[in-house]
Amino acid sequence: MATEQTTGQPSESISSVLSERRKFPPPEAFSSKSHISSMEQYEKLYADAAADPDKYWGELAGQFHWFKPWDSVLEWNAPFAKWFNGGKTNISYNCLDVHVNSWRKNKAAIIWEGEEGNERILTYGELHRQVSKFANVLKIAGIKPGDRVAIYMGMVPELIIAVLACARVGAVHNVIFAGFAAHAITERVNDSRAKMVICADGTRRRGGSINLKNIVDEAIVNTPSIRNVIVLKVTNEKITMHDGMDHWWHDLMGLAEDECEAVQLDSEHPLFLLYTSGSTGKPKGILHTTGGYMVHAASSFKYVFDIKDEDIYFCTADIGWITGHSYMVYGPLLNGATVFMYEGAPNYPQWDRFWDIINRHKITIFYTAPTAIRAFIRAGNEWVTKHDLRSLRLLGTVGEPINPEAWMWYHKYVGQEKCPIVDTWWQTETGGIMVSPMPGATPTKPGTATRSLPGIMVDVVRKDGTACEANEGGYLVIKQPWPSMLRTIYGDDERYEKTYWSEFPGMYFTGDGARKDDDGYIWIMGRVDDVVNVSGHRLGTSEVESALVSHEAVAEAAVVSRPDDIKGNALVAFVTLKDGYEGDAKLRDALGKHVAKEIGAIAKPDEIKWAKGLPKTRSGKIMRRLLRELASSNEIKGDVTTLEDIGVIENLREQEDE
Ligand code: PRX
Repeated sequence: MATEQTTGQPSESISSVLSERRKFPPPEAFSSKSHISSMEQYEKLYADAAADPDKYWGELAGQFHWFKPWDSVLEWNAPFAKWFNGGKTNISYNCLDVHVNSWRKNKAAIIWEGEEGNERILTYGELHRQVSKFANVLKIAGIKPGDRVAIYMGMVPELIIAVLACARVGAVHNVIFAGFAAHAITERVNDSRAKMVICADGTRRRGGSINLKNIVDEAIVNTPSIRNVIVLKVTNEKITMHDGMDHWWHDLMGLAEDECEAVQLDSEHPLFLLYTSGSTGKPKGILHTTGGYMVHAASSFKYVFDIKDEDIYFCTADIGWITGHSYMVYGPLLNGATVFMYEGAPNYPQWDRFWDIINRHKITIFYTAPTAIRAFIRAGNEWVTKHDLRSLRLLGTVGEPINPEAWMWYHKYVGQEKCPIVDTWWQTETGGIMVSPMPGATPTKPGTATRSLPGIMVDVVRKDGTACEANEGGYLVIKQPWPSMLRTIYGDDERYEKTYWSEFPGMYFTGDGARKDDDGYIWIMGRVDDVVNVSGHRLGTSEVESALVSHEAVAEAAVVSRPDDIKGNALVAFVTLKDGYEGDAKLRDALGKHVAKEIGAIAKPDEIKWAKGLPKTRSGKIMRRLLRELASSNEIKGDVTTLEDIGVIENLREQEDE
């Protein structure tokens, strides 16, 4: 059995070679207590939602607090959507005030554990107080509805406080993953013209710390829009506070009132920007808005994670990615759930940190990425088996295809063969989960995210847009607008239209290859564009290429991926050097460091190969398909007739044999 890694341009046909026959019905003990407890119930919900989407989404939206009701559920002026238009709400109000006005006031909203084992618990009441205070801080600093605020900090509760405070005053938060380098901050701040950066002095990582404030200092030399930086003290780094520009979080919080009414915002008011990689070198600012995002983040969380008030839910994602936004902050808090948040690395101080956490805190739902699961498998079963994981009742995965053997391991060793696994397919752009088992209803098969959620019309189509037959590989599309869809790419409606809505007219193109099996289950076959998933994180190969080419020694670079046991994909860079530079180990090391500095350590190529020339078509386009084949097998099987100079390939292969 093999999982085919699909790569190449959409014009190429896709074939799938995966066949997986194991099937796991949900355990009766789980189904009998779940929100959706049978396939009949799911099918009915799905059919009703398909027949009358406005009614379906309208009823879900009705479960939230609206200061003013909406005029229409959906206004669709393709490809631009307005959900619950005319309605006024506030997502921070729905995450906090609604619960504070109920018995949940003293329920734990966040249970946090630091890398060193220290703990903090914030009840809904306390979180509400802190968010209100920080919202006042933002207002005093002149932040107005619609202003963009960049947030750059590690996994501490104040990150959630900052996010919710922005939402409370109508500011548009842009969380920047704390693993990104200064250049990435500059790029995002300038693209969004952010007024403020909220950061920490540092963040803990594997017993040490990383100075974040210094990185911010370096980044904002070139960002004219930034007026203030608010700095949270976390690690006691040595930093410089600049008069007039920099302010301590604790000083400002000390002065702020702890009551701040949530601003009544239009349903379509922008909520956040999150930058993600595309096929070009420039990251895209994915724009999500308020009402529709709220409705789908909350309802998908409720159904997919079958959330109950007694649960303690642990999501291992960083809030710098969409999973952290939708399923650590908004989805859980909108449902009044208890979220467990961990600050540090999964293997600190040892490989059993997560299992130890699950045992000590009696975690009931655990959501992580396949890359982490593969790393745990490699570390050895004993790290898992020595802990009592009986509190767990549901497991989830996200971010990339999970290979069936990793699924089986997760099922056996972590789920003790009793926990359903929800393999959830979605994207930064979709805002919430689109394809996933309903854990109390859907029989699962290792390696598939199964079927789409009610109200979500996902399909697999051919190049001409017609639906594929069962088991025919094709392109994953979404045929109807959904409430948490991105509204645009910030400041670039044209790119939005071109990237997502032009490949298959009238349909949203996900960029993924997929097939449906005989049961209608969707099997994701990977990206079909120049975007790769490395350790569950999305990277545009062209971004890495741009970083390489910005080094003085590099004339040209092409970056492709090859399958990797742990990371899913590894990055292989083919680099042509300028005259006078020697391709040696020292330069290889320097280029790796240069990419880490430009983008972040996750983008560092796993391999750098020196190339005298790159294979190109006669029109000058780099033939990445050939490089991908070389990177994974050192063999070229595909068609090379369009290649301008066959000698280039021979040169690359010779280097391989050296
Ligand atoms: O290729 C798909 C893969 O991750 C891409 C989206 O990446 P990003 O926007 O960073 O969001 C990741 C977290 C939601 C998709 O186009 N992907 C995500 N989840 C799965 C997946 N591939 C297979 N199975 C999944 N469950």
